[in-house]
Amino acid sequence: MNVSDLKLRLSKAGQEHLLQFWDELDKAQQVELYSELQAMNFEELNIFFQKATEGFNQSSQQEKVDARMEAVPREVLGSATRDQDQLQAWESEGLLQISQSKVAVLLLAGGQGTRLGVAYPKGMYDVGLPSHKTLFQIQAERILKLQQLAEKCYGNKCTIPWYIMTSGRTVAPTEEFFTRHRYFGLKKENVVFFQQGMLPAMTFDGKIVLEEKGRVSMAPDGNGGLYRALAAQNIVGDMERRGIWSVHVYCVDNILVRVADPRFIGFCIQKGADCGAKVVEKTNPTEPVGVVCRVDGAYRVVEYSEVSLATAQRRGPDGRLLFSAGNIANHFFTVPFLRDVVDVYEPQLQHHVAQKKIPYVDSQGQIIKPDKPNGIKMEKFVFDIFQFAKKFVVYEVLREDEFSPLKNADSQNGKDNPTTARHALLSLHHCWVLNAGGHFIDENGSRLPAIPRTAASGQSEAVTADVNDNLKDANDVPIQCEISPLVSYAGEGLESYVANREFHAPLIIDERGVHELVKNGV
Ligand code: UD1
Repeated sequence: MNVSDLKLRLSKAGQEHLLQFWDELDKAQQVELYSELQAMNFEELNIFFQKATEGFNQSSQQEKVDARMEAVPREVLGSATRDQDQLQAWESEGLLQISQSKVAVLLLAGGQGTRLGVAYPKGMYDVGLPSHKTLFQIQAERILKLQQLAEKCYGNKCTIPWYIMTSGRTVAPTEEFFTRHRYFGLKKENVVFFQQGMLPAMTFDGKIVLEEKGRVSMAPDGNGGLYRALAAQNIVGDMERRGIWSVHVYCVDNILVRVADPRFIGFCIQKGADCGAKVVEKTNPTEPVGVVCRVDGAYRVVEYSEVSLATAQRRGPDGRLLFSAGNIANHFFTVPFLRDVVDVYEPQLQHHVAQKKIPYVDSQGQIIKPDKPNGIKMEKFVFDIFQFAKKFVVYEVLREDEFSPLKNADSQNGKDNPTTARHALLSLHHCWVLNAGGHFIDENGSRLPAIPRTAASGQSEAVTADVNDNLKDANDVPIQCEISPLVSYAGEGLESYVANREFHAPLIIDERGVHELVKNGV
C-alpha cells in the first residue's frame, strides 16, 4: 500500500479527511479502505458534484417546469385499447423479431429496495402467490414462454437474451440465486449479469461521507448508471455480436411486467422508433409516478414532485388528465441508439441530486444518524436519454393488465406492497380464465359472479371505492387463481384448459395441468 501517494491524491482533491482515522484501523480495515479509495477518481467525483449541484440550484431557483411542459402529441401515441385494430399487426411484428433472435430484455436490478425493507434483492421476493414464485422466476418463465410462442408462430428456434444489471449491493445474492435455481430453465449463456457503478454520498459542501471510520458511504449511481455500465462492460458489443436489434428495459418490481412484450416491440418497430416508453393512464393527479411529456420540445419524464398540483390536475377536452402518460419504467431502445448513447451522449447526462439523511462518523469517531438531510446522493435516471432520440414513441396500456409495482412493505403503506401485487396478479388471472370460458363456483356449486379487478395503485378514488365495495363482497380478497407463465404469457391459449369448466378456488394452472387445491386436499 502506497499510503503517502494516496494522501497526496486526497489532499489535492480536498478529501484528506477520509484518512483521519487511519491509525485506529486494524490491518484488514486499512486494506479495505485503501482499495476502496484507490479505485475512486476524485477529480471526476468533484466534477460530478459541481455539475449536479449547479443544475440542482438552478432548477430550484427557476419556476417549476410547469409552464414549459407539453403533453405527448397524439401522433406518437399508440394505445392497447384505442388502437385495437392494429394490435394483431404489432404482435405479429414483435413475434417475428423475437423469432429471429433480434430482441433482448434488460432488467434493472441494482436498486437497494430500501422502502420494501428486505436485506436481499427485490427480485428474490415472494409476494405469497399459491406457487410462491419469486419475481425473478415469474420473469424468467415469461421469457421461456415467449420464445416458445415465437417459435411456434414462425418455426424458428430463437433466444431472448436476458441482461441483468446488478450493483455492488445486489450482485452476489442475485447471481447465487440464479445458480441455485438453475437459471429457471434458461440457458446460462443467455443470462448476462453486469454491474452498475457506485458513488459516494457527499456533504452539501462536497466532502465524501465516511459512514464508519474505515468505510465510505456508497450507493448505486441510479438506474441511469445503466449507460456507463453498458459501455464499461461492453454489453452493447455483446448485443451487436448476437445480432440484437431492439431491447426492452424494465424494472424488477412490477409483478405484471410483460417482458419483451411483442405488441410494444412491434409497435415501436413499425413506427420506426429508436426509443419508446410504455405508459399507463394516470387518473389520479397525486399518484406518485413520473409523466412522459415534452419540455422545451424534448421528450423526458417529469417526476410528480417537480410539478405543481394545479398542473397535475389540468384536464384536456376529453376530460382526461392532460399529463396522463404515467411512466411505468418500461422502455424500448434500438441497439444502434444504445451504441450512440454509450459512445456519445452518456457523458452529457447530468446526475440528479437527492438530498438525504446520511449516517456519518463525526470528528470524534461517533456514528451520527441525522434527523434532517445533511448531504446528497447523485443519481442518473434511465429515461434521461429520451432527449437524444431521433424518433420517440409512447405506447399506452391498461394498468390492471400490466402494472402493479412492489415498492413498500405491507406494514408501511396501503399501496404498491406485496398484498396489492399479489391481488393484481390473481385478479388478472381470474379474468383470463373467465375470458377463456371458464367459471368459478362456491362450495354449494353456485357460480361466482365475475368480480371486477382489484384496486391497483393510483386509480381515481371513485373507481377504487367501487372496486373495494365489490371486494368486500368477495371477502376482501380476489379469487385465488394463478396461471403459470409457462402455460400462458398474456392470457392466450387457455381455452383447452378451462372452456366450459367450473372450478373451485384456489386454482393453479401450470405445465403439469389444472389443480384445484382444496378439492385435491392440498
Ligand atoms: C421509477 C421511475 C418512475 C416510475 C416508477 C414506476 C425512474 C428513475 N423512476 O421510480 O418514473 O413512475 O418507477 O414504478 O426510473 N435501480 C437500479 N439501480 C439504481 C436504482 C434503481 O437498477 O441505482 C432499479 C431498481 O432495482 C428498480 C428500478 O431501477 O428495478 C426503479 O427504481 P426505483 O428507485 O424503485 O424507482 P421509483 O422511484 O419507484
